Amino acid sequence: MATKILRTVVALLCRGGHYCKGSKGSRPLAGAIESIAPTSLSFPTVRIDIITLFPEICRAPLSESIMKRAQESGVIVLRIHNLRDWTTDKHHVVDDAPFGGGQGMVMKPEPIFAAIESLRRADSITVLMTPQGKRFDQTLADEMSKKKHLIVLCGHYEGIDHRVVEHLADTEVSIGDYVLTNGAIAAVVFVDAVVRLIPGVLGHDRSAVDDSFRSGLLEAPQYTRPAEFRGWKVPEVLLSGNHAQIAAWRKEQALRRTRQNRPDLLK
Ligand code: ADE
Repeated sequence: MATKILRTVVALLCRGGHYCKGSKGSRPLAGAIESIAPTSLSFPTVRIDIITLFPEICRAPLSESIMKRAQESGVIVLRIHNLRDWTTDKHHVVDDAPFGGGQGMVMKPEPIFAAIESLRRADSITVLMTPQGKRFDQTLADEMSKKKHLIVLCGHYEGIDHRVVEHLADTEVSIGDYVLTNGAIAAVVFVDAVVRLIPGVLGHDRSAVDDSFRSGLLEAPQYTRPAEFRGWKVPEVLLSGNHAQIAAWRKEQALRRTRQNRPDLLK
């Protein structure tokens, strides 16, 4: 009961009271998704702040379906911030030319330090999304899902002033060996993969326990009705009701799929 009251108070405070100091003084953050008073109270709220130059890229994918319910139930509080809200000049400049010459622009340190220093708490982990980061995988998602406050900073342009990496970020994360136009897309992938592992986010029927990668193998194929479609039949064993045989078939199929698509996982 006490947790319930506390959670409701926290949600109400977060809903109406999140301000930052920008060039026009204190004002509500343009990029904040409003939270809805929580109803599910058996888990402590995890807070996630995304800092990006493109809040709209993050907003839609992170406010639908499971992500939406996670926020409505109060399991997570997600805020999406525009980095320009922490600039202090008239033109809200966030980038500058690289020292030493070279192509493109580099993100300036001042607004980034101001943003993170205003959001961070004693238990915060600051994650910088960058193609230069350590490769994101299910193990890292699992580790991040146990944190109480994540600040996700999205890179853009040719890069970010390295003092951010050295003195502010706790870790640098890349979602794969390819370069995206900006880190906001990577942040959406990161946050989605982490949030679904937070206790209370997936329902009983949507357990994360059987996920691909947890067992070290890819998932076995799944089928649903109709049992025959365009002449293609669902494997007989799945209709048999014999759970031991179904489990053995799934194991064998998982191995076969892994060998075919991800042989690196078997090494
Ligand atoms: N920004 C651009 N490409 C990225 C990647 N692969 N991972 C994380 N952030 C990025």
